[in-house]
Amino acid sequence: MMVLGGSASLTLAQDIGERLGSESTPLMVERFPDGEMHVEITASVRGKDTYIVQATTPPVEGNLLELLFAADACRRAGSARITAVVPYFGYARQDRRANGREPIAARLIADILSNSGIERIVAVDLHGTAMEGFFSVPLEHLTAVPTLAVLARASLPSESILLAPDLGAAKLAELYAGILHLPVAIVHKARLSGSEVSVRTITGDVAGRALVIVDDMISSGGTVEAAARAALDAGARNDVLVITSHALLVGPAVQRLGALPLRGLIVSDTVPAVPGMALPVQVASVAPLLADAVGRLHHDESLADLILHR
Ligand code: R5P
Repeated sequence: MMVLGGSASLTLAQDIGERLGSESTPLMVERFPDGEMHVEITASVRGKDTYIVQATTPPVEGNLLELLFAADACRRAGSARITAVVPYFGYARQDRRANGREPIAARLIADILSNSGIERIVAVDLHGTAMEGFFSVPLEHLTAVPTLAVLARASLPSESILLAPDLGAAKLAELYAGILHLPVAIVHKARLSGSEVSVRTITGDVAGRALVIVDDMISSGGTVEAAARAALDAGARNDVLVITSHALLVGPAVQRLGALPLRGLIVSDTVPAVPGMALPVQVASVAPLLADAVGRLHHDESLADLILHR
């Protein structure tokens, strides 16, 4: 077995390698003077079951290209089997057309990955389950929800309610509800732009409750902020816990979350942490989950209990 670490997931790759007692090698990535990317694998992969760990976090295109180049290099260098471990999958939100003249970018990216020599993909909490049908290679869709819920349990406010900040997060909230035994309320959101949203209404009674907001990802923080503000206006307590698998925290996200009465922010490490962030953040690592999955794949064992169906 060989674990290769892409530049967006170096720490995770190293941790996965150590947990499996296997070699882990960072990809060598450089830019030529004209801006072209050059990727090289510095150890032999010939005959090896190879796992390339690379989240397609921002800068998305660069990290994606790095993954594709690494896969091609592995194929040409005689890897026995190539698996991409993609802890965060960029472009997954573009899995449908909201207007007429736009691409289904998630499908196109899935096609490109499926044709790059990658024989199997391991992903964590994809934005939607529609993505599962986009790949023509096997996809192992893992979830960080139980890992995050265990950490959240220790910080749960009394009398709390799970709040899905949009309809897309409703199934996710039900998953958390099954583990944390809390009621669920759902926000009906309208997106105004890439970073602005507005709330139409809330289904469920949040009055007097502390809020536990769950979402698959936080990008600019607009969704969580709008949901929290609407619920606070509807009488929720000034006590907000936010749980998310993928904390991208771009643009105004830290400022937006920092302006809320935030008890805590529980995230996984699918996306590397923003350095020096002044938020009460706790990180649950997905390294044990991914190492377990990779170990089982290597030995052709079942992953059934690592996958939660939404
Ligand atoms: C949307 O459907 C996603 O699940 C997130 O709620 C959303 O994309 C987060 O983006 P932002 O933090 O920019 O509102």
